[in-house]
Amino acid sequence: MCGIIGYIGKRNTKEILVNGLKKLEYRGYDSAGIALKNEQELQIIKSLGKITDLEEKIFREETIDCQLGIGHTRWATHGEPSEVNAHPQKSGKITLVHNGIIENASLLKKELEEEGVVFKSSTDTEVIAALINKYYTHNMVEAIQKAIVKLKGSYALAIINDDDADKLYAVRCESPLILGVSDGEYFVTSDIGAIIDQTRKYVLLGENEIITLTKDGFTIIKDGKKVERSIEVSNLSLENASLCGYEHYMIKEIMEEPMLVDNLIQKYKNNMDLLPDLNQYDTIHIVGCGSAYYAGMIGKNFFEEDGKIVEIDVASEYRYRNIIYHDNTLVVLISQSGETADTIAAMRKAIKNKVDTLAIVNVDGSTIARECKYKILIEAGREVAVATTKAFILQVLVLSFLSYKINPVKGYLEELKRLPQNLKILLDKSGFYKKLADAIYQHEDVFFIGRRVDYAISLEGSLKLKEVSYIHSEAYQAGELKHGTISLIQEGTIVFGIVTDEMTKDKTISNLEEVISRGAIPIYVGTEECSYENKIIVPKINTKLQPILVVPVLQMIAYYVAYKRGCDIDKPKNLAKSVTVE
Ligand code: F6R
Repeated sequence: MCGIIGYIGKRNTKEILVNGLKKLEYRGYDSAGIALKNEQELQIIKSLGKITDLEEKIFREETIDCQLGIGHTRWATHGEPSEVNAHPQKSGKITLVHNGIIENASLLKKELEEEGVVFKSSTDTEVIAALINKYYTHNMVEAIQKAIVKLKGSYALAIINDDDADKLYAVRCESPLILGVSDGEYFVTSDIGAIIDQTRKYVLLGENEIITLTKDGFTIIKDGKKVERSIEVSNLSLENASLCGYEHYMIKEIMEEPMLVDNLIQKYKNNMDLLPDLNQYDTIHIVGCGSAYYAGMIGKNFFEEDGKIVEIDVASEYRYRNIIYHDNTLVVLISQSGETADTIAAMRKAIKNKVDTLAIVNVDGSTIARECKYKILIEAGREVAVATTKAFILQVLVLSFLSYKINPVKGYLEELKRLPQNLKILLDKSGFYKKLADAIYQHEDVFFIGRRVDYAISLEGSLKLKEVSYIHSEAYQAGELKHGTISLIQEGTIVFGIVTDEMTKDKTISNLEEVISRGAIPIYVGTEECSYENKIIVPKINTKLQPILVVPVLQMIAYYVAYKRGCDIDKPKNLAKSVTVE
């Protein structure tokens, strides 16, 4: 969701910016733009739609030679997606790109309008540019400092000034932004993946630190004082950022699951001591958004079976609830990106209430990874497809490890060793999933039903299908269906029955029979043979691992259904990879 790339150095800038913007595409966007600056001129080029549209425009127009520029992919918040609302935004001498949301933008805008400022766009970003411009006389750092004091909300900004052809400025608060360091050149970006082919060296920026970059170095100022920050080296692999022969990142990332699951098992199977022991807590709260929340629901099932008191909520609700925290509560925050705004807010609420926090997170150095008391990295590598797949599976694996630590059931470790191989065998049946997809892709309504952990699996299967294929899909607790929703079942409605839970399997099968007698076409996904025509039999494994052998099957089906429907699989419409606004 929104991406920033900025460059100052010795090379011609437009190629560097376009290259960086392409790497940011996966985050989701509706428009993009760049600003190029040399001694004589500032040139802004923007476009609605894809980066390739922007690229075409840039290479059609006569662009200036320069070694300084900023670029942005925008996902509309204030103001519709349009060229005029795309970034960079310029006001007076100030041109900038912005990630985040300014909550008091309309108030500030009104004040500035009363002072005579005329706005061209409906963005909060132009308000920031106007504010910095208002305070700028000759010292940019001072002007930025005065402006950010007025801002309420989140921002990561890369800024250039008409008066400076040799300086790039940046500042952040709540939204991520890092500084990339190379030989005689510097980058600012919201996502290290955008510059990893240029440099591995980076500097993490603290809140409201104002960075001034020239091609010869950088300074960081906070509240008027110089700040020293060390240069770190990223180990993100280049290979991870490319498709490796797959047609889409979604399928590439699903296919990586056996290897990644194996890596994490190798790391922890003899070293469970590296993980926190949840037995020390009386109550566990689990919080996340979307798929991360559904992974948490699977974890809730594990921990409850282990005898723990568990509460779960989506972060956007949790952050506003009146929660009475008991002593000895642990709040588990699950997030692939570590930058989801609501999950960050939920984490800060827990920290404010002085309870312990545990991050189950993919991106190290992200806000959630940094601020939680404990962190467990799922080590999925970069996940490019907007719909999460491999990160989800690894989140569930970590929850399974934690559950095993609470309650070390017999046979778990042996089954754990067999898990990657079992998963691989399951994923190798792509021909079978394609055939199933053929039977589904023309339908417009699909249901998933299950009980207990199978309900949590249903939720994830249903989300995956609807977000990439745009087929309307709902997940229901199998027993709840007849309290209303069964009226939607008609001749030919597809109903997936998820049947792995020993305690409730017969009940779910009865519910499947109920919908069949009302005309539904069942697709059985379970651990035991059955007489249904459409069936996927997954190997039976320890209950703490079973979801890891079911969800990937549903991911594959979602992928092939979306493929058959010709969808933009890696970048479904309206979705963003990292939801950094509320
Ligand atoms: C669905 C999906 C989203 C994310 C959610 C949380 O496929 O990817 O539902 O799971 O936006 O994102 P993170 O895990 O980055 O906090």
